[in-house]
Amino acid sequence: MENGKKVMLSGIQPSGELHIGNYLGPLRHWPEMIEEFDCYFFLADLHTITVRQEPAELRRRVLTLLASYIACGLAPEKCTLFIQSHVPAHSQLAWVLDCYTMFGELSRMTQFKDKSARNADNINAGLFTYPVLMAADILIYQPDFVPVGEDQRQHVEICRDIANRFNGIYGDVFKVPEPYIAKVGARIMSLSTPEKKMSKSQPEGCVFLMDKPEDIMRKFKRAVTDSDAERCVRYAPEEKPGVANLMQIYASATGKSYEEIEREFDGKGYGAFKPAVGEAVVECLRPIREETERLLADKAYLESVYRAGAEKAGYVANKTLRKVYKKVGFLPG
Ligand code: TRP
Repeated sequence: MENGKKVMLSGIQPSGELHIGNYLGPLRHWPEMIEEFDCYFFLADLHTITVRQEPAELRRRVLTLLASYIACGLAPEKCTLFIQSHVPAHSQLAWVLDCYTMFGELSRMTQFKDKSARNADNINAGLFTYPVLMAADILIYQPDFVPVGEDQRQHVEICRDIANRFNGIYGDVFKVPEPYIAKVGARIMSLSTPEKKMSKSQPEGCVFLMDKPEDIMRKFKRAVTDSDAERCVRYAPEEKPGVANLMQIYASATGKSYEEIEREFDGKGYGAFKPAVGEAVVECLRPIREETERLLADKAYLESVYRAGAEKAGYVANKTLRKVYKKVGFLPG
């Protein structure tokens, strides 16, 4: 609530690298968000181990993501950036909230059903109580808003249910947050299957922020277009989803309109268009990749960012935790 700004919070799972679907989509609007709101952003490493992780790889990803987010414009002096496991109050509150969440309501969560179907050999209790930890992440900062994509909407709903239940017993302990429909920008599709959203699970159709220029160029040159006889760069998402997607990427990377792009490639065909999109993306990503690399080489700086973030976050989180402990009847330590 610093400077009377509303509080916003979001967690990011360090389960993969950022790609241009993230960047040209929601991430591009985050720098505006940190001006408007008092923002808390954290890397949800506790959530990530609900699916088995390779420890060295997890450490590397957390640092890379932290550096990438800073490079994308999340200035650490303007928001609170931290790592979830560095603020133990999240796990402490999660235990309390576990005791105010029903087995039945967790069983109904669609993400639990999906993930247990996909990880049939590891349906662990953490996967089941995942939404409770997420509710603790949120409620502990008393935020006004939680920006969510469609896939997390149900988790924010259950968080509100848990908060209301707790408040119903003990009075107004938690602020009940509103889901915030963030501006998403472009909805980027896979380069290899343009009917599907770009995703790290299909690396050949996915351009990562840290990809080398030659890899980016190769991916764009192989991008699926269509076998239209006209081979013409024309915006028609229904008929020509591959071309529409490339046009969208080109438009987001250069700021050009679809009409300008159609004129630019009039009579030139896909052979000229695909490398041009690749080059535009290489140029758009270059400053971010260079800044991420520079930050990754400065471990002391990254450490100072996440330590300061955890300290600031921990102060707020512990205040809520103390209040909750008192309400449920724990003797002060
Ligand atoms: N579950 C979220 C995701 O997979 C990540 C997350 C964890 C989160 N805790 C959160 C998001 C709290 C918002 C608020 O994307």
